[in-house]
Amino acid sequence: MKLALHGATGRMGLAITRLAHAAEDLTVVGAVCSSVDPGQGKDIGELAGVGPIGVVATADLGSGLLGADCVIDFSVASAVPGLLAVAARQKMAVVSGTTNLDAAGKQALEKAADSVPVLWAANMSLGIQVLAEVVAHALRRLGASYDAEIVEIHHRKKVDAPSGTARRLADAVRSVRPDVQELHGRDGEVGMRSDRDLGVFGIRGGDVVGDHTVYLLGPGERLELTHRATSRELLAHGAIAAARFVNKRKPRLYTMADVLG
Ligand SMILES: NC(=O)c1ccc[n+]([C@@H]2O[C@H](COP(=O)([O-])OP(=O)(O)OC[C@H]3O[C@@H](n4cnc5c(N)ncnc54)[C@H](OP(=O)(O)O)[C@@H]3O)[C@@H](O)[C@H]2O)c1
Repeated sequence: MKLALHGATGRMGLAITRLAHAAEDLTVVGAVCSSVDPGQGKDIGELAGVGPIGVVATADLGSGLLGADCVIDFSVASAVPGLLAVAARQKMAVVSGTTNLDAAGKQALEKAADSVPVLWAANMSLGIQVLAEVVAHALRRLGASYDAEIVEIHHRKKVDAPSGTARRLADAVRSVRPDVQELHGRDGEVGMRSDRDLGVFGIRGGDVVGDHTVYLLGPGERLELTHRATSRELLAHGAIAAARFVNKRKPRLYTMADVLG
């Protein structure tokens, strides 16, 4: 499979470049970066530390994606609609892990999925997908007297909060309790917790790759369902698994649940 990377010089883009370079069935044919990226014009293999691979990072989407079967995107939310439009035009599969998409970004995913296969996931780990399923199952079994709250921890360089994965886990809670209302902080005389509250809180610091805990707090006991990502490679592996899955599929919007089968 021929891969292009969007957000190629970022942390995830470089991690995926390293894994794709080592995989026999994958060839990196394109690398798209931002227009102000100092890596522009440099070989993406060299930037990723695997030596030159003959693919230069470019800010030009059209030429950067040319010839790819699939583009893997880990960039910024504002860049996603433009990427999707070009990928749909050039008829390639899309895997996107970019978080914090707004309504226009989500709409762009759906529109592109009318003509090419698209997989978007806030977290590319199979473990998070299973955690979301476990959370929904536990809430159904425990019933309404158990409160749900979510805490996530990420490295100090993360720019958005709460994490896309925390939002994904909040969606899992919402699938069982459609009336819950997310709140992202408590400060001052906020009064008693309402049954509809769903606290989703972020902690930032150090080099934490990503920890997520869903607390289910009941009378006399609590469950703490935790996922810890110990390396960025986990997420890069997941993105490549998603690309292998989505390549040559029917146009549709897929999720990591589809990859799990
Ligand atoms: N789904 C998952 O499993 C998962 C895992 C990790 C991260 N993420 C998400 O993926 C995204 C990227 O994460 P990261 O840690 O790799 O961040 P990062 O290191 O900041 O990488 C993002 C890259 O995208 C580039 N970019 C900005 N505008 C662009 C444009 N118009 N076209 C192409 N590239 C552009 C940035 O360039 P500049 O620096 O020049 O702006 C940067 O190199 C974030 O939304 C993050 O939350 C998701």
